[in-house]
Amino acid sequence: MKKQMMILAGLSMGLIACQKTTATEPVASNDCTAVTYAGTIKPLFDSRCITCHGATSGDGPITNYAQTKALVDNGKLKLTVLTTRSMPQGSTLTAGQLGQVQCWLDAGAPNN
Ligand code: HEC
Repeated sequence: MKKQMMILAGLSMGLIACQKTTATEPVASNDCTAVTYAGTIKPLFDSRCITCHGATSGDGPITNYAQTKALVDNGKLKLTVLTTRSMPQGSTLTAGQLGQVQCWLDAGAPNN
């Protein structure tokens, strides 16, 4: 009986893990050619991030390319926005917006 319980627990943990993976997989249905820093990413981050990540923010300013690129380079932008989805704190991005961020990161986060 104990063994069955262990198997059951293992199975349900596997299920939860699967669901989690699916939920954090960004929907990349975007046309990446249309995604630029100036035209897509900056307006998105301006509207969704800089209330907390303003120029003097202790949590890391995200008001211009250099500041944003620093968070790309240390891996934290991708981690918090696409992987753990802890950012934007207190809200969520749409699948389309996540796809745009993914496009931009995949392209090497260009300043375009
Ligand atoms: C409601 C406020 C709020 C909003 C909106 C918000 N953040 Fe944050 N962010 C925080 C706080 C507070 C921290 C530090 C604590 C933490 O990591 O949870 C943080 C941490 C981060 C970090 C890690 C910084 C580091 O050096 O460890 C990144 C990257 C980040 N945010 C990106 C973003 C992006 C990108 C957006 C917009 C899509 C965003 N955040 C929106 C409050 C916010």
